[in-house]
Amino acid sequence: MKKLTTMFSMLALCAGMSAGVQAAPDTIKFSHVVAENTPKGQMALKFRDLVAERIGDKYVVEVYPNSQLFGDGKEMEALLLGDVQFIAPSLSKFSKYTKKLQVYDLPFLFKDMEAVDRFQQSPAGQALLSSVNSKGLIGLGYLHNGLKQLSANDPLRVPADADGKKFRIMSSDVLAAQFEAVEAVPLKKPFSEVFTLLQTRAIDGQENTWSNIYSKKFFEVQPYITESNHGVLDYMVTTSMEFWNDLPDGDRAVLKKALDEAVAHGNAIANDKAMKDRQNILDSGRSEIITLTDAERQQWVEVMKPVWTEFQDEIGPEVIEAAVASNQ
Ligand code: LMR
Repeated sequence: MKKLTTMFSMLALCAGMSAGVQAAPDTIKFSHVVAENTPKGQMALKFRDLVAERIGDKYVVEVYPNSQLFGDGKEMEALLLGDVQFIAPSLSKFSKYTKKLQVYDLPFLFKDMEAVDRFQQSPAGQALLSSVNSKGLIGLGYLHNGLKQLSANDPLRVPADADGKKFRIMSSDVLAAQFEAVEAVPLKKPFSEVFTLLQTRAIDGQENTWSNIYSKKFFEVQPYITESNHGVLDYMVTTSMEFWNDLPDGDRAVLKKALDEAVAHGNAIANDKAMKDRQNILDSGRSEIITLTDAERQQWVEVMKPVWTEFQDEIGPEVIEAAVASNQ
C-alpha cells in the first residue's frame, strides 16, 4: 500500500512538471518608515498591485510600512545586504553615500514644489540619481512628499523664538547647520522615535511635511505649527545594484515600468494630500497654524542662508545653481 502511494505521488509530481507547474514567485520586499496613508505609502501599495497584475506569476511585492521591518537608520544597510529590495528614503538620509543630494536640504532653496519638480526632471537633477552608484545603490526615481513646516511647543515666528530649543532632524549635516544658524539644538533621531520624543517633551520641536505631521499624530503633541515651507522632503526610490542587475532583462523592464507608474501616482496625489492633511490638522483644533508675515519669513531666510556657502563645495556650486534656476 505504501509503495502504491509513493508511486502515485511520483506520478503526480511528474505530471505537474510536464504541465509546466511554476516555481513559487520571488518575494520583493519594499520597506519604508511612514504610514500607508501618505504619498510614499500609497506609491508602495500601487507598485505592489501593478506587479501582481502584470508579473504576479514571477514576483510578489511585500510592503512593510511604519519602520516595521527596518527603521531609517538601518534600511540602506539592509538593502545592500539583500534583506530588502526597495526602499524610498528621504533625500536627507543619503549623506553617508553621496554629498551631492544634500542640495535638497538647503533652506529656502525652492520657492514651491513645481520648482522642485523642474529641478528633479532637469539634466542636473537626473544626474543626481546616479550619485550613489559607486556605493552599490541605484536611484530609480524621485518621489514627492512636500515642503516642510516647523512644529514646536511654543510659537515660532522669528528665528529668535527657536534660540536654545531642541529640534529633531533627519540624519543630515545641512539640517543640523540650518538649526544651528538660529541658535537651536539639532538632534538626529530616527523617524519612529519622533512622536515619543515630542510627547515626553524630550525635544521642543521638529520639521516635517503636512502628511507626516498628520499621519504620525505629531500635531496632537505640538501646539504650534509654523507654515514656513522652508525646505523640501522628497524621496529617492532606491534599489541595490546586485538585485537590479541580476534580474532577467524582460522582468527588469516590467518592474521598472510598474515602478514609474507607481511613482507618478504618488506624485500626483502628494500635493492634494498635503493640503487635506493641513486642513485635517486645522479642523482638529489641537494645533495652531502660524502664518508668517513677509518680514518675519525674510528673517528666517537671512539667518539660514549662510548654510548654502558652508556646503557649496561638498554639493558642487553648479548643482546649486541649477537648483536655483528651477525657480524661474
Ligand atoms: C523623517 O524622517 O522625518 C522623514 O524622512 C520620514 C519620511 O520618510 O517621510
